[in-house]
Amino acid sequence: MSARAAICGGDDLRAAAAVLGLEPCDAGRPDVVLVDLRDASACAAAAALDSAIPRVAVAGESERALAAALGYDASSIASTCEAAALGPLVVAALPRTVRSATRVVVVTGARGGVGRTLLVANLARRLASRLSLAAVDATGTGALGWWLQCAPRTWAELEGLTNELTAEHLAVVAAESVGVRVIGGAPVAPTRALAESTVRAAGSLAELVLVDAPVLADERGLALASRAERVLVLSYDDPLSLATLDAVDLPNAAWLVASQSRTARVGERAAFRALPRDETAVGAALSGRRGAGGALGRAYDELAELIALDAS
Ligand SMILES: Nc1ncnc2c1ncn2[C@@H]1O[C@H](COP(=O)(O)OP(=O)(O)O)[C@@H](O)[C@H]1O
Ligand SMILES: [Mg+2]
Repeated sequence: MSARAAICGGDDLRAAAAVLGLEPCDAGRPDVVLVDLRDASACAAAAALDSAIPRVAVAGESERALAAALGYDASSIASTCEAAALGPLVVAALPRTVRSATRVVVVTGARGGVGRTLLVANLARRLASRLSLAAVDATGTGALGWWLQCAPRTWAELEGLTNELTAEHLAVVAAESVGVRVIGGAPVAPTRALAESTVRAAGSLAELVLVDAPVLADERGLALASRAERVLVLSYDDPLSLATLDAVDLPNAAWLVASQSRTARVGERAAFRALPRDETAVGAALSGRRGAGGALGRAYDELAELIALDAS
């Protein structure tokens, strides 16, 4: 279910709301009001809406000072209409009853080698102390287990159980490491049916399930994405990836993440966030088989924070 937003502002605010998966609400009661305080007519439109509905505002310096003087919570004021600036504020502002608590987060990509596994491993490390967590490697490479310092049993052991798979079965094949139950070892990928029933069953094993999923062009990638409350689509800003993004119907719950990029954009599209290229952090993480620090680590921290909010 997507949240309904009253959008009091211009086209840039509307575009950001679309990137964030908010449904524009022109009639009836919205779940959140997005208002551009720099625009007088937008302020008038927002003023007409019930003051009990949470607000996320965009403000310049002077409006921000005014809002602070009135005791308005500055943590829900962004300085631009960019989705990357508004996203965290919207996630935090939405009432819990509207955010169907995220149980399954699927990480997929416009193409391979885009940083899915590194992201899932780092989110898992960061979230493990806050939630009970299962991490599923649906790619068949076993790379997620490598990063999380364990070797989960191969998918082949589960293939006969596809239709009756339970959390108990998964508990047997999972490897526990760094506080995470890791499912899915090398050397073969699961069938689509097994991947789907595993993610379903993993939901009874843990509060949050992170899935390192095949790319969008693989039917398993899209199938898993369609079952998730939250989908992260990693993409480079290269012509091939842009063509792929144009060709697929991204699920509603998708947050586009610009990979190895300094700006939260992928071609013409606004992205939810950017993950910087950080060879030093990745090199250190690789040699110690541990979580990434540095600028990339901070970007992972922020995404983990948003997912924790989304999941609570
Ligand atoms: N932000 C980044 N900066 C530098 N190197 C990265 C970054 N993200 C991923 N890498 C490296 O790029 C390669 C592909 O990443 P990986 O997570 O395996 O991608 P995928 O799982 O999408 O195929 C790996 O060698 C990884 O260490
Ligand atoms: Mg991978």
